[in-house]
Amino acid sequence: MNVLDTFRLSGYRALVTGASQGIGRATALALAQAGAHVGLTARNEQALTEVSTRVSELGGEAAVIPADLRQSDSARDVVEEAVSSLGGLDLLVHNAGGPQTDAEGRMILRPLTETSDQDWQEVIDINLMAAVRLCRAAHPALRSSERASVLLVSSVAALVAVPGMESYGAVKNGLLSYVRSLAVAWAPDGIRVNALCPGWVRTQLTEPIHGESATSQAALTNVPMRRWGTPEDVVGPAVFLSSPAASFVTGQHLTPDGGLTAFPAMPGSGAEEGNHHA
Ligand SMILES: NC(=O)c1ccc[n+]([C@@H]2O[C@H](COP(=O)([O-])OP(=O)(O)OC[C@H]3O[C@@H](n4cnc5c(N)ncnc54)[C@H](OP(=O)(O)O)[C@@H]3O)[C@@H](O)[C@H]2O)c1
Repeated sequence: MNVLDTFRLSGYRALVTGASQGIGRATALALAQAGAHVGLTARNEQALTEVSTRVSELGGEAAVIPADLRQSDSARDVVEEAVSSLGGLDLLVHNAGGPQTDAEGRMILRPLTETSDQDWQEVIDINLMAAVRLCRAAHPALRSSERASVLLVSSVAALVAVPGMESYGAVKNGLLSYVRSLAVAWAPDGIRVNALCPGWVRTQLTEPIHGESATSQAALTNVPMRRWGTPEDVVGPAVFLSSPAASFVTGQHLTPDGGLTAFPAMPGSGAEEGNHHA
């Protein structure tokens, strides 16, 4: 097979969580561009319907499945509906998540000593428990597929400390451990399991940081590429890990972060020169 063809996902059946906006929306559209049919889930049904129209324009079928994945039964219901609408499941992408947010879905940075058990539980529920429940529910359908893969969206916060986001970092790190365990457990079933660890990406979630020039510049201090990522910066790695091009890749994480985790910002390293390309 031509190597370019190994990136195609023609006829794959994918479920993408958090598909209403940001990285999840871009990922759903990229999977559709690569040829997949996509189940779209999040809470905002109107936004999902708009994404579904775009998927149809790209030649894919889309199923809109509104749900709140913090509810314990939601994952099972969402997977059941996706499998029934798409006629099976080859790809599961759990992207819904993030740190604690305000009512508008914008991240809240909170000193560690001021976080409550409830704060931690909310972060655990959407990022980790929803992943566990989705994977458990999707296992029978994925095992029946000849080309199954799971992609869990973690974060650079799993790999380096981000002050004010300690619960998020711990939970996203737990997700990486879960990815490795699941990759080993499900290898005999032919299911690959990988993670993405994006760096700073300009979305509604990160608006409190990229929305202010001073905090935006501060966030870029130890990003060698000196710019914010876009959701589109993340979709190439997502398609790759979901595709036959990654057929021997499992239990791994890929880190589209502009070099952040490779770079200890130090005097003389260029960090103090500020933003060249933002
Ligand atoms: N942006 C970054 O810099 C960055 C960096 C590293 C990792 N990440 C990770 O990338 C993923 C996507 O982040 P993003 O920046 O694209 O954020 P975003 O624009 O806020 O999108 C988050 C998505 O998750 C959905 N969601 C949130 N809570 C949900 C719930 N209880 N039930 C169902 N769906 C829910 C939202 O949809 P509804 O509101 O419609 O439910 C939305 O579609 C997250 O896992 C985040 O941790 C982001």
